[in-house]
Formats: sequence, C-alpha cells, structure tokens
Amino acid sequence: MPSSPVSIDATAALLAAQDYVADRQLATAVFLALKLNRPLFLEGEPGTGKTEIAKVLASGLGAELIRLQCYEGLDVNSAAYEWNYAQQLLEIRLAETAHEARDRIAANLFSDRFLVARPLLRALQPHATAPVLLIDELDRTDEPFEAYLLEVLSDFQVTIPELGTIKAAQTPIVIITSNRTREIHDALKRRCFYHWVDYPDLQRELEILKVKAPGVSERLSRQVVGFVQELRKLDLFKSPGVAESIDWATALSELNALDLDPKTINDTLGVLLKYQDDIQRLQGSEAAEILRQVKSDIAAQPLG
Ligand SMILES: Nc1ncnc2c1ncn2[C@@H]1O[C@H](COP(=O)(O)OP(=O)(O)OP(=O)(O)O)[C@@H](O)[C@H]1O
Ligand SMILES: [Mg+2]
Repeated sequence: MPSSPVSIDATAALLAAQDYVADRQLATAVFLALKLNRPLFLEGEPGTGKTEIAKVLASGLGAELIRLQCYEGLDVNSAAYEWNYAQQLLEIRLAETAHEARDRIAANLFSDRFLVARPLLRALQPHATAPVLLIDELDRTDEPFEAYLLEVLSDFQVTIPELGTIKAAQTPIVIITSNRTREIHDALKRRCFYHWVDYPDLQRELEILKVKAPGVSERLSRQVVGFVQELRKLDLFKSPGVAESIDWATALSELNALDLDPKTINDTLGVLLKYQDDIQRLQGSEAAEILRQVKSDIAAQPLG
C-alpha cells in the first residue's frame, strides 16, 4: 500500500504520477495537510483542478475516495447518517407478530443494523488506509450545515442521539473545495490549511496539456495556451478554466487543425466559452487580434 509522501518533492511526484501538475505552493499545502492531519481547504475559479486533487490523492495513496457533493438544503440525513425507516417498520411488524415485548422492540430498532452511513460517517469508519473525504463545493450549502460540519471536522466524530458518539477509527484526509460564490465561515477555515488555486501560468498549463491532451502537437498547444491565457486577462463573464483548455486543444486536434486561425477559433468558441455574451464579443475581430498577438509572442519567444 503506498504510504504518505515524506517531503514536498515526494508529494509533487505522487501527484505527477497521477497526471496532476502541481505548482510548489500547492504541493506544499498538500504535504502539510497530510503530515499534520489537517483538512485542506481549496478555493479558486471553476475548472482549476480543485476536485481533481482529491481524486488523484486517493488513487496515489491507494485510498478510498468518499465524496460529499454539496448543494443548497443538504442536511445531516444525506451527509452523515440516516435511519432506515422502512426496515425499522418491517422489524416492528415482525416483532409484533412474534409477540415480543414492547421495550425490547424499541431497544433493537436503533442499532447499527438500521443505520445507513452517508459520506461523513463512512469516512470515520475503519478502513485499511485512511480514506480521502472530498467535501466538494461547500459554498453551495447553507450556514447551518457548515456549523454541523465544523463539529465533525473539529473532533472527527459524529453524534447520533439514539446511539451515542462515533469517533473516527483513523483521521481521514479531508479536502474541501469552494468556488467562493459566498464566503465560508472563519471558524471552519481556521481548522483547515487554506490554498487559493489560481489559473496556471503559461509554462504549467503547457505541461498540463502535455499530460492531459498528449495527442496534440506542441505547436498547437502553445497557441491554445497563449490564446486562453490572453482571454483570462479580458473582463469576460466567465473565463475559461484548465478543463476548457484541455477540451479545446483536444477538439482542435480532432478537427485536424495544425494551427489556430480566426475561422477555426470562431467555429469552436463554444468549447472554450460558455456564455453567449462572451462568445459574441470574441467572434470576429477581437479573436483575430488576440491571435495575432499570441503568434507574434510565440515568434519572439520560441519555447525550449
Ligand atoms: N494541475 C492540473 N494538472 C492536471 N490536470 C488538471 C490540472 N488542473 C486541472 N486539471 C484538469 O482540469 C479538469 C477540471 O478540473 P476540476 O474538475 O478538478 O476543476 P475544479 O477546480 O474542481 O472545477 P469546478 O470548480 O468547476 O468544480 C480536470 O479534468 C482535471 O484533470
Ligand atoms: Mg470541482
């Protein structure tokens, strides 16, 4: 079973082995979170590789990935545990036909047998290797749930009124992500290490394309990344993330494009931009102008 990395370099290597290209700060944050058993809070723009971190950590460490996808109205029943009411009712019927004593029936009803473990509780149960608990898009939940989570993450335990307190068999590796559609409470952030996941710089985005879109030529990748990096400087409604760069490079390559040209860009903008206002703005002269700029930058600074 792979063990926890012993250094920042080893952490970067573990991520790289899973095709994740991390910068030094992110590798440091991951290393420290693992070493000191603290949750890692990742905030950043959409499509910058936050969720992916939890996935690659789990596969790199040979650990189970337990995912809690957050949404408005998420409650303890879906996040931590739930009683299996249907099964309990059936048990009552059966016990009644067998003429069992009332207090015996009641005592049996709230036992492990009828408890359904949801992601938070599952992460506390025994595992061969500490699991990776991904609490994804926490900003989508509401504050009462955040308060509940605070309790779970402070002591790594869940209290079930009918059953008692269940403590973690081992501390899970916790990754929390947020797109910052609202601020997460300081009390929760204080329990975590924090890292802002930014868009990668040109060099790192090229490396990402190399591993995630290996069939795309270096020449086309360089133009794609140059173009996308320029788009991120504009005041768009929604800037393209890394996921969009990968998709665009792959799509262009599928279309057998060897080189970016204004027409191909116009025809494929929907892979890169997801709002009609942004697409409309870019179509035509603005895209052509950016492309001219990118090509002249490449000519001035050829890579390698
Ligand atoms: N540093 C990276 N190395 C390798 N792949 C990356 C990297 N960053 C992003 N990706 C790729 O980009 C895609 C999007 O990543 P991911 O879903 O983790 O983004 P996210 O930040 O969670 O986005 P959202 O906020 O929209 O959920 C994935 O396919 C992932 O493989
Ligand atoms: Mg995500």
